[in-house]
Amino acid sequence: MLKRRGLILPAFEIHGGAAGLYDYGPVGGRLRNRVNQTWLDHWQSLGNIVEISCPTVTPYAVLEASGHVGEFSDFLTECTKCGEASRADHLVEDKYPNAESLSRDELASLISEMKPNCPNCGESSWGNIVAQNLMFNTKIGAGKSGRDGFLRPETAQGMFTSFTSIYRHFRERLPFGAVQVGKGYRNEISPRQGMIRLREFNMAELEYFIDPEVQPIHDFSSWSAPVCLISDEQGEISMTLSQAVNDGIIRHPTVGFFMGSTMDFLVNIGINPNHLRFRQHESTEMAHYAQDCWDVELLGSYGWIECVGIAHRGCYDLEAHEKATGQRLRAWRTFKEPKTVEIDGWTIDGAKAGPAFRALAGKVKSAIEELPAESSFPMTLNIDGQELEVRDEHVKRLQRTENMAGEWFIPHVVEPAFGIDRIIWHLLDHCYTETEKSGETYTLMTIPEIIAPVDVTVLPLYEKDGMGELAKSIHRDLCSRRNVFSIYDASGSIGRRYARADEIGVPWCITVDHDSLNDKTVTLRSRDSGEQIRVPISELEF
Ligand code: GLY
Repeated sequence: MLKRRGLILPAFEIHGGAAGLYDYGPVGGRLRNRVNQTWLDHWQSLGNIVEISCPTVTPYAVLEASGHVGEFSDFLTECTKCGEASRADHLVEDKYPNAESLSRDELASLISEMKPNCPNCGESSWGNIVAQNLMFNTKIGAGKSGRDGFLRPETAQGMFTSFTSIYRHFRERLPFGAVQVGKGYRNEISPRQGMIRLREFNMAELEYFIDPEVQPIHDFSSWSAPVCLISDEQGEISMTLSQAVNDGIIRHPTVGFFMGSTMDFLVNIGINPNHLRFRQHESTEMAHYAQDCWDVELLGSYGWIECVGIAHRGCYDLEAHEKATGQRLRAWRTFKEPKTVEIDGWTIDGAKAGPAFRALAGKVKSAIEELPAESSFPMTLNIDGQELEVRDEHVKRLQRTENMAGEWFIPHVVEPAFGIDRIIWHLLDHCYTETEKSGETYTLMTIPEIIAPVDVTVLPLYEKDGMGELAKSIHRDLCSRRNVFSIYDASGSIGRRYARADEIGVPWCITVDHDSLNDKTVTLRSRDSGEQIRVPISELEF
């Protein structure tokens, strides 16, 4: 049905298709757009969140600094008979469901013990297990001046590299956040499960910057019902979010707050709350940047699937980019009372270091003033890609007492990251109902109005005596309204047309009949109740 009705289709099918790539069709395109917009509105309503948009093509240096070049990989093995590449953990996961967190050696010994068959040729002959980086390589520019780059594996990095401009936007006051919706890319070794594991996918991420020394105050009162939590230490428990924060099961209040807010968003767009649970990552499965992470898992036709990850990334990313670039990615914290501190360290001797380092002298000074008192010289510093030797005569000891009004620190980040395609898959699954009607299967999709891909269908009872013209003019008027999308449908019986609208979840149908020509009223039918009422055309509001 998803394919037939233009919701979701395999991409490039006329050329044989490509695993892990899907199209949103004429109905799905708008559904995706509305989910994205509802997501943006949801977070921006907090009042201290701003949307940004960064390139998907990302220089090598950015993803090297973030740890993705070194860490972002899965273990691959190839069938020595047919050459099919498989994820090593997938070959043993029937027996070991947590195989994703096993080491290369553990996987190698399990594969040699279990001898799994190749999913392609059925033989059991596997090559070495190697770590395969999941990023798509590309070149930025051409020829000798071309630079290595990647298609981004997450939208997050652009928000970290833009930190200074977001900080300025919020008048240098934490907490604040940046949101971004857009494409992410992962060159999955052997994508399975349709929309669940894509090579190009739609992401929506919030990076929320906080001062780790300020105890956040969040209002949990709207989440008074217990939720299903699978905690790293306690297993499955039913508990309110506020209790789980108070008991330290959820290790940071902002993570708990975003868990509640994420649940609100998901239920608002049609996810069944009884098919939603939170699962905490075990320390062995956490991403390289995370201190704590809770997945929101949704239950659908593939079982429980991770659809959102809410991670406490600490200062990992800003610190990594600061180290790699020498640029300050910090926020200012004013002390309640000025603090007296003993400074014991080093600075440059301007008379010697100025002529020696010229334009780089300022950056050398900043680097030297970061060094601990026990540092010794000569030492080599890398400033803007240049190796500089700093000798005794370039520096002098700096010892004094200072009254400090505040300090620069690296903010911490809490990140709710949403896999939009997985969420759309599950909401379609949760909203889909089948009933028997006159011996036929009748499909009704109860997609909430807020994200319904089509708001209204306009149906002339017949396309004659002016009914078609009147219906078309109503359709055009509705389409011209802000954010309203209407379909004109004149094909087949009126019953068939209602069924077509119900199948893709159109909340309202308008029927133009003979009476409409005289009294300028139409029949308005509700998808969910089936109720029909007569309404003046001039009073139609969507
Ligand atoms: N930024 C979270 C993720 O890449 O999954």
